[in-house]
Amino acid sequence: MNLQITDLQAGDAPKIQQVAKLIVEGFQEHWSDAWPDIDAALQEVQESLGVDRISRIAISESGQVLGWIGGIKQYSGNVWELHPLVVKTEFRGQGIGRQLVGDLAAEAKNRGGIVLWVGTDDEDNQTTLSGIDLFPNVWEHISNIKNLRGHPYEFYQKMGFAIVGVMPDANGIGKPDIFMAKRL
Ligand SMILES: CC(C)(COP(=O)(O)OP(=O)(O)OC[C@H]1O[C@@H](n2cnc3c(N)ncnc32)[C@H](O)[C@@H]1OP(=O)(O)O)[C@@H](O)C(=O)NCCC(=O)NCCS
Repeated sequence: MNLQITDLQAGDAPKIQQVAKLIVEGFQEHWSDAWPDIDAALQEVQESLGVDRISRIAISESGQVLGWIGGIKQYSGNVWELHPLVVKTEFRGQGIGRQLVGDLAAEAKNRGGIVLWVGTDDEDNQTTLSGIDLFPNVWEHISNIKNLRGHPYEFYQKMGFAIVGVMPDANGIGKPDIFMAKRL
């Protein structure tokens, strides 16, 4: 597919609207509390345009926004957090997510980043880390993780990320956040 990946511009109101719609729809199935409505999503998109941020969109030939990825500078710029990432539902599985992660990695590296990390929640029993008490043998559970229902941690593994930890109960009891990172 002929895709262009470019900065989301603060003055481009139509694209900002498209991105906001994308995250409301894209996170509805497994993370419905993330951005419940357009207003919450618009706030997230506006924040992505701030200083020490990267905000990149994948656009089709016709100008439609098919995906969005953001980066947040942390640890004096040594580490960048990937937040958020979404691909339009009907365009998934075509390599757009891979291209967006590659693009963000290059952008973060250009700015001096050494490590890229992401927190990927499991609120919906998508992995074996969800719905159980992870204490006290947290690392045993991580070592034996299985993907039960298409959780994106495996997508990130394919992009070179390793699991570097987990925050048990981050989103309520039995709903952890899985921390993953890769060297740039
Ligand atoms: C996760 C997401 C960004 C992936 O985007 P995508 O464009 O569908 O991914 P790609 O087509 O680039 O996939 C690259 C590889 O990862 C695999 N993959 C993608 N999503 C996967 C998943 N949920 N579980 C396991 N593997 C996955 C693909 O099969 C492909 O494998 P291959 O290289 O062996 O063929 C997309 O599914 C999405 O927007 N999901 C909803 C929001 C979300 O989960 N965001 C991340 C939250 S932290």
